[in-house]
Amino acid sequence: MIGHSDSSLLDPNNMADDPVTEFAAWFEAAQEAGLTQPNAMILATARNDKPSVRTVLLKSFDDRGFVFYTNYESRKGRELAVNPQAALNFTWLDLHRQVRIEGFARPIDEAESDEYYATRPRGAQLTAGISRQSDVISDRSQLEQAFAAADEKFASGGVPRPAHWGGFRLQPVVVEFWQGQPDRLHDRIRYRHTGSEWLKERLSP
Ligand SMILES: Cc1cc2nc3c(=O)[nH]c(=O)nc-3n(C[C@H](O)[C@H](O)[C@H](O)COP(=O)(O)O)c2cc1C
Repeated sequence: MIGHSDSSLLDPNNMADDPVTEFAAWFEAAQEAGLTQPNAMILATARNDKPSVRTVLLKSFDDRGFVFYTNYESRKGRELAVNPQAALNFTWLDLHRQVRIEGFARPIDEAESDEYYATRPRGAQLTAGISRQSDVISDRSQLEQAFAAADEKFASGGVPRPAHWGGFRLQPVVVEFWQGQPDRLHDRIRYRHTGSEWLKERLSP
């Protein structure tokens, strides 16, 4: 296998030439280790120099980047609309591992959002339609009533994907692999895209 899948010392010469291939090996190791939701990742966005973070789920990744789904009109959605620069952090504590990703997050094609939306349970589809994610609401019953109304409205047939719900793909520019080591002599290997290729650099812990 290309890429590190265990906690041995990190050697950039033994790591993949591109960070997505390396990430694939680490993600597989996290899944095999039986961690709780290894696809949970912290997403940082910023607007007017004011950062905000929250957890989202990684739903797919490839050379083009890392995909998550959300409400485009949520706080994160609005922040990304004006500033696509974003960062992700996977914290796999049981493996003493962390992966940090920085790049640009942009909406994915509607057809791709449709495809994923279709795989979601009906209840999650209904909630995607009725939740004005991040807005203030009066109480829980407001949500429950809107959910019941949507349930009735779409009683027969499928629940269409609301236009305000879909995916973002974060295209990486910097990816850092962190492996905890004894005496806090941790390994940090950072991939940086120079415009034409990925450069690997070791950072001090
Ligand atoms: C484990 C976990 C997974 C989550 N996954 C998602 C997700 O994939 N998409 C999403 O929009 N919110 C997800 N959330 C909720 C977000 O953390 C957040 O509450 C919501 O997206 C609103 O964020 P915002 O107001 O900053 O836009 C998740 C929360 C947790 C704890």
